[in-house]
Amino acid sequence: MAPSRRCAAALAAATVVLAFPAASLADEARDALIVETVLRIEGFDLQGSTKAQAAVGRYLKSNWAGERYLDLIERFSLKEEAPGVLRLALEKSDTPMGAEAASLLVTLGAGNLLINTLRGEDDPKAVQAAVAISHAGAPALVAELPKILADQSRAVAVRSSALAALYGKHPAKQAELLATVKAGKLAKDLRQTASEILMLSRDPEIRKEAKSLFAVGEGNFPPVAELVKRKGIATNGKQLFATKTCLVCHQAGGVGINFGPGLSEIGDKLDKKALYQAILEPSAGISMGFEGWEVTLKDKSTLVGIVVETDENLTVTMIGGAKRTINKGEISTRTKLKQSLMYPGLHQLMTPGELVDLVEYLSSLRKGG
Ligand code: HEC
Repeated sequence: MAPSRRCAAALAAATVVLAFPAASLADEARDALIVETVLRIEGFDLQGSTKAQAAVGRYLKSNWAGERYLDLIERFSLKEEAPGVLRLALEKSDTPMGAEAASLLVTLGAGNLLINTLRGEDDPKAVQAAVAISHAGAPALVAELPKILADQSRAVAVRSSALAALYGKHPAKQAELLATVKAGKLAKDLRQTASEILMLSRDPEIRKEAKSLFAVGEGNFPPVAELVKRKGIATNGKQLFATKTCLVCHQAGGVGINFGPGLSEIGDKLDKKALYQAILEPSAGISMGFEGWEVTLKDKSTLVGIVVETDENLTVTMIGGAKRTINKGEISTRTKLKQSLMYPGLHQLMTPGELVDLVEYLSSLRKGG
């Protein structure tokens, strides 16, 4: 259907919905219908219709974090809804929807809410605020992070989160962090977080330098043939799965984001030897459908992630779960990566004993178990 006709049809539908309260529809369904309709009408004047305004207000109240929640607020610039958007940006800071909420706060001109939370006394919220600020990316917000880092009176958890928000994402920033560590200018209590950020860099040069800097070597890891003979403690492994960043990309035992393959039944698919290999050398055998791609757009921006393709579009799912759909016309190049999107060197965040526990846990994950 041509856009003008779709618009006319939506307008007609809106007139019907707004003018004739349909007694047969439950109020909530009717509000939802009005919401869908006003979202479809280009340039709809919400202020001009008290009925639509009331329906939108009711919808937002009973659908916090619902499907259309952010769409509505963005479309009609509903600044007064900023507190609800803030809550979403904080509580869901590690989901794509939370990331969207963080960006929307900036669009609404309410970025200061994130700054206040970051500066506030509630530490767990301040940790989330730092993550949200890294999603939003607005320079005025990002400029707050170094102040937190420098403030020794703040909890280590808050400063670590600020460190990851500031340096975690881009190899260029990671190179800065590396230089800071080398110059001995990083606070001691942030070294652990810094080593994790740097050893998980996409840039192999940074990983290599981090490895020697933090003095972790392949050397103290026994070969796989040795490791498979050991028996680990699965309950320890379950905790390691969460703390050693596996859950950033995998779901297992009810936690995690499915960016890479789900691992809830991985014990049925891979034996211990294969599990060790998957962790020690992720690029040796990349699971089908989970290959990484680097997509460069005509505006020179680059996306790295897993790609799903339709006739017209390409959807790139990035690490962390955020998705971006682009029209194929916007793409200038795309290259399949030889390396797995799973970082090599994850085992260096663990002792050999911990790795054995982790594999024991993974191998216990079976159908019906
Ligand atoms: C940055 C994202 C990321 C992180 C972090 C990550 N993985 Fe992966 N993982 C992937 C992707 C993508 C694949 C699929 C590609 C491949 O096989 O290399 C994968 C594959 C696997 C496989 C093979 C699955 C199969 O079905 O064959 C296992 C096992 C695995 N990961 C375990 C782990 C463990 C344990 C951790 C934590 C120590 C971890 N991963 C951390 C992204 C990640």
